[in-house]
Amino acid sequence: MTSTLLRGIGELVTCSSEMGDGSALGVVHGGALVIEGERVAWLGETAHAPAADAVLDMGACAVIPGFVDSHSHLVFAGERSAEFAARMAGTPYSTGGIQTTVSATRAATDEQLVAQVSRHVQEMLRQGTTTVEIKSGYGLTALHESRALSVAGQFTSETTYLGAHVVPPEYADDPDGYVDLVTGPMLDACRPHARWVDVFCERGAFDADQARAVLQAGMSAGLSPRVHANQLGPGPGVQVACELGAASADHCTYLSDEDVAGLRDAGVVATLLPGVEFSTRSPYPDARRLIDSGVTVALATDCNPGSGYSSSMPLCVALAVREMHLTAAEALWSATAGGAAALRRSDVGRLAVGGWADLVALDAPSYVHLAYRPGVPIVASVWRRGRPVIG
Ligand code: NIG
Ligand code: FE
Repeated sequence: MTSTLLRGIGELVTCSSEMGDGSALGVVHGGALVIEGERVAWLGETAHAPAADAVLDMGACAVIPGFVDSHSHLVFAGERSAEFAARMAGTPYSTGGIQTTVSATRAATDEQLVAQVSRHVQEMLRQGTTTVEIKSGYGLTALHESRALSVAGQFTSETTYLGAHVVPPEYADDPDGYVDLVTGPMLDACRPHARWVDVFCERGAFDADQARAVLQAGMSAGLSPRVHANQLGPGPGVQVACELGAASADHCTYLSDEDVAGLRDAGVVATLLPGVEFSTRSPYPDARRLIDSGVTVALATDCNPGSGYSSSMPLCVALAVREMHLTAAEALWSATAGGAAALRRSDVGRLAVGGWADLVALDAPSYVHLAYRPGVPIVASVWRRGRPVIG
């Protein structure tokens, strides 16, 4: 197995608090790291680095773990830029737009969907994302949801069954009949392709009882729960997530004190999606309140054609710092180790000996530049499973 030594790293961010400066980011100044095969074989200070087959001098740049984007909706077809333009001119966001994408996605061929997901996964990789979760939710029939999940499964093991995204028009008069489909034949078709089950618990989508039914059916089928909760207004989504021990409650834009306490006590990660608030011109979630209350916070893109069509984790970090008052260190932790927590993974989102060599070199001396230079493509190179894939 060949080994590669990356030496002369200005800031090596490990997200392991036992490393380096002992902070949550575990920063090693003047760091070095050895990649052997797919994994990290050594990390520490350059002065103590072992020999390796190949040596790369990193020129004092910052190196961080690959981003973990724990929430995306990449399996879709169609085009909704006019809806975005209308929104910027004053039309509020509504869940009604989802149906536009459902029609286009049903009409797309398998090849078109694979090409679309591939393009977006590559786009994410170029921006430093080495782990991505992908949801279904734009098929809304047993056939189209299972197809979406099998397409997603070609790109990630983090696949999420979101048959309960909205009630499709053919069930408009019988929403409970649709829940029966989602918890019955559609679940049977989807379970072999999914790790997670999700539900959009929101006015205009599914209420608490329906959400509970969907999640419990998924759990009985061996899937683990996560929830779209409290995005467009206060509601029961977070409490349902806490009650069922979901890995994550996502959005969390409108929270009561009970919701915040519930997340903390149940150990449910709050996944914040600031690209959505940016693209829907909505108030940002109160991330400080969550962190200061002891809730684990993740950042993710929610990349989808409706509420937020950005695949950029660096943008999420910049928004979290500028708009949500996270420190740059908190934002980077949430975009890496936090995302891993939201997916209940300990093998990604941090750099440790024996762990996957998923890492990003920035064209910058400090990770702070992710927020300090918004919109600038400072991701210089990316390794995934030890292989240089970008740069
Ligand atoms: O996470 N909240 C529900 N679903 C997506 C938006 C989907 C759409 O508008 O197409 C979201 O924001
Ligand atoms: Fe979403």
